[in-house]
Amino acid sequence: MTSTPDRTSTSTTTSTTTSTSTTTGNTTPEPPSTPKKVTVPWVVAAPERGEKLAVVTAYDYPQGRTADAAGADVVLVGDSLAMVVLGHADTLSVTVDEMLHHVKAVRRGVERALLVADMPFGSFHLGAEATVGNAVRFVKEGGAQAVKIEGDRPGMIEALVGAEIPVMAHLGLTPQSVHRFGGFKVQGRDEKAAHEMVAAAERAEAAGAFSLVLECVPTDLAAEVTARLSIPTIGIGAGPACDGQVLVYHDLLGLEERIAPRFVRRYAELGVASREAIAAFAADVREGAFPADGESYGTLAPPEQPQKLYG
Ligand code: KIV
Repeated sequence: MTSTPDRTSTSTTTSTTTSTSTTTGNTTPEPPSTPKKVTVPWVVAAPERGEKLAVVTAYDYPQGRTADAAGADVVLVGDSLAMVVLGHADTLSVTVDEMLHHVKAVRRGVERALLVADMPFGSFHLGAEATVGNAVRFVKEGGAQAVKIEGDRPGMIEALVGAEIPVMAHLGLTPQSVHRFGGFKVQGRDEKAAHEMVAAAERAEAAGAFSLVLECVPTDLAAEVTARLSIPTIGIGAGPACDGQVLVYHDLLGLEERIAPRFVRRYAELGVASREAIAAFAADVREGAFPADGESYGTLAPPEQPQKLYG
């Protein structure tokens, strides 16, 4: 591998809204230069501002709402949906229609973050026309602002960008290539593979990608790719030099407990908490402790308050 060139940061040219919030009486630090709505150009300029991007996946309305309210910059409806939500062993079987169903739900929950739809296996492999046709569905029907595609596919990136669809590229351990790789394995470990990845990353940028996910690649290789590109790199298992980091919602929150790759940091144990809560509910039901009077209705509604169940 060649040495890592210096990435010249012109630094904080647009950090105009950095501030502290006092709405709750407390002084809460806000993320730097936070825009009302995240746009593709804002994401592209993050390295220049010297700001790291926080990216998280989401698959339904409450997850989209939660990620957005928590301040994620980009919400990705990943095809990891196939594994963490639909229970498949890999991502290969999920379809455009299934993805679209979830993109639409997440769209309803996301107001600020940039919404990116992952194009599933087979949806960008059958020529530019089919690729653009599928991507248009994610934008038009799903409300996505960009799509993500896996692999070294500059031709498809060019076709999508030519159709006004921003593209997040994805290199390294691209799970749709699981059969070619012979399993889910760290990529770019030898000199040749590292050179190829750098070249593929440069092709993705030249083709017009606005960002690049690097999944499961050695830290020094991710640092080199990051230094060579001007678009932001988003790492997952790619070390700290990337311009942003992405985690899968279910990993971050401890909902996915079957596999725990070393790059996952769990910020909560919602799997455990969910089981404990449901077990407590079941015990209350069996003991007749739920529902209590205050959780039940009388025959007459209080006169001043018509009975309203929801909303
Ligand atoms: O499908 C997915 O969730 C992804 C991210 C891990 C980048 O591709």
